Amino acid sequence: MISSWVPVIVMLGIFVNGARSENVTRPCATLQTSSSVVPIGSPVTATCVISEDCPLAVGQAVHTEWRLGDRLVPSSPVANTSGRVSEAVIPSFNHSRAFLTCSIQGSPPQVVAGVEIRAGYPPEAPQNLSCQTNLTTPKRLTCSWDAGQRETHLLTKYTLHTQIRYSKKNYTYQMPPGVCSFSIPRLDFGLFSEMIIYVRAVNDLGEATSSPITLEPISAAKFDPPEIVKIEVPRKYGCLTLRWCLSRHQAWMSNQRMNIEVRLKTADSNEWSEAIPVNNIKPSRPVDQCRLLHWTRYFAQIRVRFQQSPWSEWSSSQSGVTLESAPTGHLDSWMKVSQDDVTKQLNIHLFWKASKQFRANSQSVSYMVSALKEGKGKVCSTRENNCTFQLPRRAKKVYLTAVNSVGKSSPTEVRILHHKDREAVSHLKAVPRDNSSFLVEWEGAVTPDLVDYVAEWRPLLETGLSHIRFDTAEKNRSSLVLTGSFEPDKPYGISVYPRFKDGIGLPQTVNAYLRQKAPSMVPEMKIKKTWKSQVELTWGEIPLAERNGIIQSYKIFYWNEKGPINIVNVDPAERKVVLQNLKPLSRYEVFMMVSTFGGSKNGTTTDFKTEPFDAVAIFMILTGIGVTLSLLVIFVFLKCLSKHKRLKRRLWPSVPDPANSSIKRWTSESTQDTYLGCDSEEPNLVYLSHLSFLDLPMKLSKEEDLWSNNAEDTSDLGESICGSPFIPGYSGSNSDSVPYATVIFSGPCSSPSPKKPHVYLRSESTQPLLEREESFSPKCYQNMVTDEVSREQCFFGPSHNCGPGEETGPDILWDDFPFLRALAMNDIQND
Ligand SMILES: *[C@@H]1O[C@H](CO)[C@@H](O)[C@H](O)[C@H]1NC(C)=O
Ligand SMILES: *[C@@H]1O[C@H](CO)[C@@H](O)[C@H](O)[C@H]1NC(C)=O
Ligand SMILES: *[C@@H]1O[C@H](CO)[C@@H](O)[C@H](O)[C@H]1NC(C)=O
Ligand SMILES: *[C@@H]1O[C@H](CO)[C@@H](O)[C@H](O)[C@H]1NC(C)=O
Ligand SMILES: *[C@@H]1O[C@H](CO)[C@@H](O)[C@H](O)[C@H]1NC(C)=O
Ligand SMILES: *[C@@H]1O[C@H](CO)[C@@H](O)[C@H](O)[C@H]1NC(C)=O
Ligand SMILES: *[C@@H]1O[C@H](CO)[C@@H](O)[C@H](O)[C@H]1NC(C)=O
Ligand SMILES: *[C@@H]1O[C@H](CO)[C@@H](O)[C@H](O)[C@H]1NC(C)=O
Ligand SMILES: *[C@@H]1O[C@H](CO)[C@@H](O)[C@H](O)[C@H]1NC(C)=O
Ligand SMILES: *[C@@H]1O[C@H](CO)[C@@H](O)[C@H](O)[C@H]1NC(C)=O
Repeated sequence: MISSWVPVIVMLGIFVNGARSENVTRPCATLQTSSSVVPIGSPVTATCVISEDCPLAVGQAVHTEWRLGDRLVPSSPVANTSGRVSEAVIPSFNHSRAFLTCSIQGSPPQVVAGVEIRAGYPPEAPQNLSCQTNLTTPKRLTCSWDAGQRETHLLTKYTLHTQIRYSKKNYTYQMPPGVCSFSIPRLDFGLFSEMIIYVRAVNDLGEATSSPITLEPISAAKFDPPEIVKIEVPRKYGCLTLRWCLSRHQAWMSNQRMNIEVRLKTADSNEWSEAIPVNNIKPSRPVDQCRLLHWTRYFAQIRVRFQQSPWSEWSSSQSGVTLESAPTGHLDSWMKVSQDDVTKQLNIHLFWKASKQFRANSQSVSYMVSALKEGKGKVCSTRENNCTFQLPRRAKKVYLTAVNSVGKSSPTEVRILHHKDREAVSHLKAVPRDNSSFLVEWEGAVTPDLVDYVAEWRPLLETGLSHIRFDTAEKNRSSLVLTGSFEPDKPYGISVYPRFKDGIGLPQTVNAYLRQKAPSMVPEMKIKKTWKSQVELTWGEIPLAERNGIIQSYKIFYWNEKGPINIVNVDPAERKVVLQNLKPLSRYEVFMMVSTFGGSKNGTTTDFKTEPFDAVAIFMILTGIGVTLSLLVIFVFLKCLSKHKRLKRRLWPSVPDPANSSIKRWTSESTQDTYLGCDSEEPNLVYLSHLSFLDLPMKLSKEEDLWSNNAEDTSDLGESICGSPFIPGYSGSNSDSVPYATVIFSGPCSSPSPKKPHVYLRSESTQPLLEREESFSPKCYQNMVTDEVSREQCFFGPSHNCGPGEETGPDILWDDFPFLRALAMNDIQND
């Protein structure tokens, strides 16, 4: 807008004074308007008169043109003036300011006159005029106001006017533009002189005056916070007395009557009471506050004002304790009754707690339980909230009284209620509400004789009745918030009992944790049973103290060397699991994760190995084998019976009877026993414990050395006894050396022989073993040396095979038995 006016103004400078060259400045035209400042929206009329001697219009008819800003404004020449007078009408001037110009038509048109027209609104009356006295030196009276909401678009001047009633002096203060507050100097007002104050606003379109306020500056003063000097305890129950004063700077006001307000709060409360007004009081006078709780610490604050002046800020707090008095109100109680079978008395454990109305009214309170209302028959007196005592079985009531240093409460009657088999509580649940309380909810059965519910709780890790806490709930309630010093991670048992007029019903009980965390320990897993592809693991319960929460699950992680980790979830009630589908004969590692609702913990890793076979399979196989073996044995035995002879030969290969040999003396009984003992038993080869071969030198003249040295009788038994007589180097009687057998009896059969445990008999017979199988066929021999023909010896066969009357003598071919011959000869020599 402004920039577009610049050329116009310049043109005006050039052309309006177009006649200057001739003589002193004489405008070429004159422009008149009805008003250069108009209310916005009002019509504007303007007249442009072009002078006779204007050079631009000399001797010619002129046509005038009007513009408002750069917009043409319709105009009309005044009829009788041959175009030199032109008139324009703007029906509604809606700019705040604009240039109206009048120019002579031509090319380009020449501006000959112009005028600035401003538009706006008249001022509104200033609002919300208020004044406040600041009593801090230098004292000032500061007034402020709100200018009107409407923008006037015009320069508006504010003046503050004061008229002092008493001195009749008027003051006027001019405000700089835009300033809406003013501090009246101290000399221009008196603190206790009433004065009228108003603000006037003026601009080109009009003026307006605020509504005046009348005030005494002192009553417009905001005082400094007063001070509570001290709080006294009068000898009056439930009262406190406040002594107070004004702030040091305002002490000169102390003989004035002030209005004050007091507010109080108890030590354990966070909120202040409502302000209690105390009017027209001199600061020297104390203030009484009564109807307070007894033996209670109160904090107090006050604030002050003079008449209707603004309130001071609140003072700082002071505290005082009201007087002690006797306890008031009744106690809630809970009782556990049991009957002593020996003394036939009632064991009573009584718990109590303050009801909502109960007031101890003193610093310390103790309790008394008595059998009679008047406090007679005292059974218990304690500072705790519980007590155990015994009463006769017919006792019906006890009385509970709170006692302090001032007096006694009226006794609370407690009826002795026995436990009954009635249910009235179901669906009990307890959930933590915040960090220090549980919300307990249940469903109650409405019965007419139900009195109330009692919620009882105790820490499960503590034993003893004294840890029990309780709370009561009216019978129309079905939930209760238990608050107390609950510890997180610790289990609590919460029970809700219905209390009837004539007894206590059956409770419902739940365990609850305020907050849970991971268990402190993980139970050790034991391998109970192992199969080819399964293993059964068991573990014990985590002790309650280490559980830290309600066990949610046991999770078993197991894997073998290369395999992936398998996870099994186990029902918390189970505490055992059978891991399935394992690989046989593999090593598995396994650990357990125990989770509560508050976390989980992993146990250590252990390992186990699966079996190659299932025990059942092994059992089946073993049974099969056993059965087969038994059958086989039976079969063999039968076979043996039928072919006894051959069997015997197989199982008891006979050796020559050294007892009847002539080399050494033998205990004939022992061999005889042996034979007899073994005959009835299963064949047992063990008694023939040593059989070895000896190389007998060809020259029999050397035999003496051989027998006396005994050096070579310890050769390998296994080979000797199992092997056939055909051994390398042995070639019968024709070879250089002849093998002989040494036979050692380590003992008779497996059957114990009590008298002579291990007869170590050594046959030093050097009977050479037979070359051919056929030669082993049992034959009887007679000791040729002795002439006792009747005594026979069987070397490789049972003796009873040989009938005593059987004559064999002539059949023996000595060449076939070189041992015997040698033995016989040796015997002869020894003899
Ligand atoms: C202008 O007019 C005055 C009389 O009004 C006259 O005295 C003066 O000489 C004139 N000047 C010129 C330059 O014509
Ligand atoms: C033009 O007419 C008006 C009245 O209509 C009169 O007042 C004015 O004097 C006249 N002007 C001239 C120059 O005659
Ligand atoms: C002023 O009024 C004119 C018509 O009278 C209109 O065209 C224009 O927009 C108005 N301007 C403002 C700022 O109101
Ligand atoms: C005057 O004060 C009142 C309350 O403080 C406020 O609502 C109102 O807007 C004020 N008036 C002006 C004109 O500012
Ligand atoms: C009074 O003035 C002093 C400074 O001069 C200021 O600190 C104090 O806050 C004022 N009091 C009030 C009530 O405005
Ligand atoms: C002060 O103003 C009031 C009201 O305008 C007027 O009546 C009074 O005469 C004035 N007093 C003086 C001393 O000017
Ligand atoms: C019950 O009394 C014992 C001592 O007798 C005390 O340790 C315990 O805290 C008391 N229990 C309650 C609930 O007051
Ligand atoms: C509960 O305890 C936690 C940690 O101790 C704390 O951050 C939280 O603010 C507490 N909440 C309430 C309601 O006290
Ligand atoms: C239970 O009954 C009492 C009156 O006997 C009443 O004041 C209270 O609000 C009731 N509570 C509920 C939860 O209904
Ligand atoms: C226990 O082990 C599992 C599997 O390795 C793992 O996912 C979990 O985070 C572990 N938990 C803890 C508490 O270490």
